[in-house]
Amino acid sequence: MIFYRRYAIYLGVGICLLVLLRHFRHSQARNGPLTKSASGEPLIDPVTGRLRWELVPVRFPVGSIKPLSTVKPRALPSVQYRFPPETGEHAAKQKVRQLAVRQTFERCWTAYREHAWMADEVAPLSGSSYNTFGGWAATLVDSLDTLWIMGLKTEFWEAVTATLKIDLTYSTDDTINVFETTIRHLGGLLAAYDLSGDRRLLSKAKQFGDMLIVAFDTPNRMPITRWQPYAALLASQEANERVLVAEIGSLSMEFTRLSQLTGDPKWYDATDRITRKFAEQQHKTNQPGMWPVTINAKDADFTQDSFFTLSAMSDSLYEYFPKMHALLGGDDPIYRKLYEDSMKTATEYNLFRPMTPDNADILISGQVQRHSQDSVAGLDPQGQHLVCFAGGMFALGSKLFEIPAHMSIARKLVDGCIWTYKALPLGIMPEVFRMTMCESMVSCEWNKTTWLEDVQERNARSSHSSIEDIVRQNRLPPGFSQISDRRYILRPEAIESVFLLYRMTGEEYLLDAAWDMFTAISNYTQTILANAALKDITLANDDAGLQKNKEDSMESFWLAETLKYFYLIFSEPSLISLDDYVFNTEAHPLKRRLPSE
Ligand SMILES: *[C@@H]1O[C@H](CO)[C@@H](O)[C@H](O)[C@H]1NC(C)=O
Ligand SMILES: *[C@@H]1O[C@H](CO)[C@@H](O)[C@H](O)[C@H]1NC(C)=O
Repeated sequence: MIFYRRYAIYLGVGICLLVLLRHFRHSQARNGPLTKSASGEPLIDPVTGRLRWELVPVRFPVGSIKPLSTVKPRALPSVQYRFPPETGEHAAKQKVRQLAVRQTFERCWTAYREHAWMADEVAPLSGSSYNTFGGWAATLVDSLDTLWIMGLKTEFWEAVTATLKIDLTYSTDDTINVFETTIRHLGGLLAAYDLSGDRRLLSKAKQFGDMLIVAFDTPNRMPITRWQPYAALLASQEANERVLVAEIGSLSMEFTRLSQLTGDPKWYDATDRITRKFAEQQHKTNQPGMWPVTINAKDADFTQDSFFTLSAMSDSLYEYFPKMHALLGGDDPIYRKLYEDSMKTATEYNLFRPMTPDNADILISGQVQRHSQDSVAGLDPQGQHLVCFAGGMFALGSKLFEIPAHMSIARKLVDGCIWTYKALPLGIMPEVFRMTMCESMVSCEWNKTTWLEDVQERNARSSHSSIEDIVRQNRLPPGFSQISDRRYILRPEAIESVFLLYRMTGEEYLLDAAWDMFTAISNYTQTILANAALKDITLANDDAGLQKNKEDSMESFWLAETLKYFYLIFSEPSLISLDDYVFNTEAHPLKRRLPSE
């Protein structure tokens, strides 16, 4: 008995110690600094001195991980137009244009290579360099697939070698933007792998994925979108109360493709949790079908705010619904519903027809303020360069989900972007502007009085100036009531939509529209080294003015997106067919899951 009692005491003390120890280790994993992996390996590799993100222990593990579907996907409706064989004359015209695009790309690439190698961006006027995205060579990684597509293979392999040296042990910014890092770096690496098949690119993509998924290690597994990666190792973290809906809602394609390629479903599972929240709350917002621009990630409440738009800060959330459908091979019905219900609402409340002197039958997507489901939806007829992506999205949705009406919406949205490019003196559209809205979508006669009244309402004026003075001072083309941001920052969305619509419809006029956009942009943004953002696209075209009009900035999307789409529209349609690939929101083509696999 005594013997047993003593044993029982030992056993009891032992269990207590174990429980305490487990509790201690548990709370350390929850709150304290992380220096070792779950199995005790140091997070800093003793040989390379690099941080091994893949070993970082999870503080808030998920209950179960959702696997990717292994069911053979159905054949989806074909996306690309069935182009007839090209005639010699057509091909020759395309070649000349394509070459001009490639020459522009090569100049800019050389500028980056010589003046900013391994930095995030080259400064196109001064020739210095910037780190704007963590110092992980954003332009380099973002350009890999464009180099491949343009056939610049020597440059591609040189860039791959450099890419492999990127070190995620440090960052030039304390806080990184998880969305930008995902679409530019992770998306760029995945596309470069999908095109070249070089597995070193996939393992670099996995390194980024292993870092980025730590941003999801919060109590409710909602990610932190403006994230301090190294602070996350020191103490536990939680998601923010106000995040931009596009930043949390468009991580899904890149995370899903990484899971498809590695066979590890943890990334797909991480973003699928967000998608389910969007689906659950789709009809609980103030404008049912859509979600407001900011949402509460900490409480996973996506319903509170009152501002609804397809434009900046929301855009790619919506763009990714049809694209995820394509990427997954249509095996999850949730994306059709997310797309159909949100676009039904956007069509009803956000799209408007602007009044133009030539009575053009075009559409622009504006923004709506709505404070409750019962209140009226007030439409602000604001257009943005950024929202030009919407034409391409409606076209893709029309094809994939077989909704013919969405193709005519797509065409009017794309024509709206082409129209606004042509309406400005340089042939380039501004960042943000307002137009006078038609009362009817069906017929709309130009009425100069109505336009001028709108101009008067939207622009402050001194007591002596007439409406004509306001129009002159603000350099407003007829139909525009206000231009609130006059820049053009080398953005891709207009040519993106023109390209996508061309590949889906084969309409020839889109080629000339694209060429007009390209000549205007390349002429007016060109610097000695590369191409630069413009401060004011409403200023007339004189050389002195144009030099002062340039900003010392060339974002990586100029090489990743704008010039890639220009190149592809002038290429043979079989190059990156939309039936084989789907582009992420940074124009990185990811291979679609097809029934033949
Ligand atoms: C143009 O609009 C004004 C007021 O906005 C209206 O009084 C006038 O009748 C309109 N003209 C035509 C031809 O419809
Ligand atoms: C661009 O420059 C070329 C050659 O200098 C010229 O032919 C063309 O008209 C210009 N395009 C525009 C839109 O100004």
